[in-house]
Amino acid sequence: MANSLWELSESYSFDHVLYHHDILGSKAHVQGLAEAGLLDAEECQLLLETLDQIEAEFDRGTFIRADADEDVHMAIERRATELAGDVGAKMHTARSRNDQVATTLRLFTLDALAGVSAATLDIVGALIEVGVKFPGAYLPGYTHLQRAQPVLLAHHLHAHAWSLLRDVDRLGDARQRMDVSPLGAGALAGTSLAIDPAFTARLLGFNEAFANSMDAVSDRDFVAEALFDLAMLGVHLSRMGEELVLWTSAEFNFATLGDEFTTGSSMLPQKKNSDVAELARGKTGRLVGNLTGLLVTLKGLPLSYNRDLQEDKEPLFDSVRQVLLVLAAMTGAYRSMSFHVDVAKAAADEQFLVAIDIAERLVERGVPFRQAHERVGRLIADAVTRDVALADIVAEQPDLSAFADLFDPGHAVRSRTSPGAAGPVAHGRQLVQLRAAIAEASARLS
Ligand code: ARG
Repeated sequence: MANSLWELSESYSFDHVLYHHDILGSKAHVQGLAEAGLLDAEECQLLLETLDQIEAEFDRGTFIRADADEDVHMAIERRATELAGDVGAKMHTARSRNDQVATTLRLFTLDALAGVSAATLDIVGALIEVGVKFPGAYLPGYTHLQRAQPVLLAHHLHAHAWSLLRDVDRLGDARQRMDVSPLGAGALAGTSLAIDPAFTARLLGFNEAFANSMDAVSDRDFVAEALFDLAMLGVHLSRMGEELVLWTSAEFNFATLGDEFTTGSSMLPQKKNSDVAELARGKTGRLVGNLTGLLVTLKGLPLSYNRDLQEDKEPLFDSVRQVLLVLAAMTGAYRSMSFHVDVAKAAADEQFLVAIDIAERLVERGVPFRQAHERVGRLIADAVTRDVALADIVAEQPDLSAFADLFDPGHAVRSRTSPGAAGPVAHGRQLVQLRAAIAEASARLS
């Protein structure tokens, strides 16, 4: 083989991380061959022990790649033949690297996504902890990044928690759909030998075996779906990152991250930068890129296996790794965060954030909402043109004398009482729902 082709096509350099799942697949395959009478009990036992030994070599870091090992699958088979002789050479009976790699990658992805789900539940836990640590804290809620209405800090953070729980749910759905064993599909068309794909599927803990051998070896929709779910999770983390960047700026000054979660500047001694949040924001580019790249690779591929499919691995490995890095660091950052309760409160008690409460109290008196809205609009315009506090303008109105309490600090957030709203009463109910959703997600994961 030309050196340039070798360098183009070898995948051991990145797919060796699949060794554990590949050996799992091979052990099931070997037992399937014994079940089919293609290996005797002694041969089966020898191969299982040999595979365990090879796994131990990988675990210890003593496995040595031979020059001709193109990928992890060939490396393991070559080593098995070295160790077990002719019996090793029987291991690939009724199997192709095409069904082998598809099996290995499904097993890997199932585990990897479970790990991401667990780490996502950790950050959800950290968001809840922050809310508990600053009970009653509130801040302005924004639309268009303009102050809109006060919201409880916990309510704000739990908005992210709900997004992340949907990510966990999506990862669970993807895992359920990919829980199908391709082993036994062979190169593309199955085999004349009497193997039973359902038997090996059961041994590997898959829900079921493939129904169509060509589909089994040729589709990587499960990788694309994993990459979408990881990208979506990354997009959520990027929004949280952007928020932390804003909150920790001098302009907002709502929060500070613990020293161990900030970095200094090589030039400016006073700097305390929220790099963790910026990287959470920045990593998303490659997560989206990995998804797009694989979709383009898959587009237009004829049935069944094509070597293009080898391009599924690096994006998957990269997205899993990057998401895990961001999740761990952001979880730590939230746990280390101090929330500047008084600064946020002062911003949220800004008088115009009470405007809707004035209108809603008029509605309670029977004023049609549009008319109430218009009247409050006029009061605000008056406050702005005369440069007088809105509370004073309202106090000047004879029929609004009972409205003074609306301007009490925290009144506006306390009166957000409708189901799912941003105030403390509704929040208590939400917390119960949130904890139930977390328990359900954890149960599905285990
Ligand atoms: N390294 C290959 C991959 O990742 C394994 C399958 C190779 N199959 C083949 N027919 N060349 O897809």
